[in-house]
Amino acid sequence: MNREGMQDEEAYTDFIAYFPDAPTERGIKHIRELIKAKKAGYQCNWLRKYTRSEESVMKTLVVYYSLEGNTEYVAEQIKEATGADLLKLVPKKAYHDKGFAKFFWGGKSAIMAEKPALEAYDVDLTAYERIIFGFPVWASTFTPPIRTFIEDNKDGLKGKKLAAFACQSGSGAEKAFAKLAKTVGIDDFEKKAIFIDPKAKKSEDMDAKIGAFCKALNV
Ligand SMILES: Cc1cc2nc3c(=O)[nH]c(=O)nc-3n(C[C@H](O)[C@H](O)[C@H](O)COP(=O)(O)O)c2cc1C
Repeated sequence: MNREGMQDEEAYTDFIAYFPDAPTERGIKHIRELIKAKKAGYQCNWLRKYTRSEESVMKTLVVYYSLEGNTEYVAEQIKEATGADLLKLVPKKAYHDKGFAKFFWGGKSAIMAEKPALEAYDVDLTAYERIIFGFPVWASTFTPPIRTFIEDNKDGLKGKKLAAFACQSGSGAEKAFAKLAKTVGIDDFEKKAIFIDPKAKKSEDMDAKIGAFCKALNV
């Protein structure tokens, strides 16, 4: 009968009633006509198409730390695909990002479960239903800036849906998830994913895996 944006008359010949998806007066009129037609003995089926609105997507914040850009690469794709907000954690004293010092100091900080001071950030956790933690695996655990964030936001994290993703070059992410879950006080994450150096070793397969994670988050 009617549909906004219908291009040509031929499209009406499938004998299906279309309506605009907003409760317009015209739409109501069409529904009344349909009721009349039904009463007059015509066959009538009701099909409701639900369109996802901005508000119906779970309000999500990705809290992440990234030393060399791999975790950030995933965080930005999640933002693009799901509309999530990003909070990048920046330690006041930057970690070494090259050579032996990178592994030595970063590894030590992770093993010692340090909580490095972070640059100030402005976030209202009450605005979010879900928090996703993103981190590179360091010495088979999550990176210390995430530990600081959790410590500083214990109350704010209570009752949130929690998901996580980890970037690594080999292994250790499963152990890291378990330690992170214990640190935030949950049995396991609602959703989680592991990516192997997704930016440094960019591949179609890895991008597809990130896409699948985003899709899973979008429900
Ligand atoms: C200090 C340090 C420790 C690491 N430990 C591990 C590890 O235990 N297992 C692993 O698979 N990768 C390990 N990596 C590699 C990173 O997890 C991996 O390259 C990740 O993709 C980097 O993410 P980013 O670019 O966001 O920093 C380590 C890297 C650093 C710097």
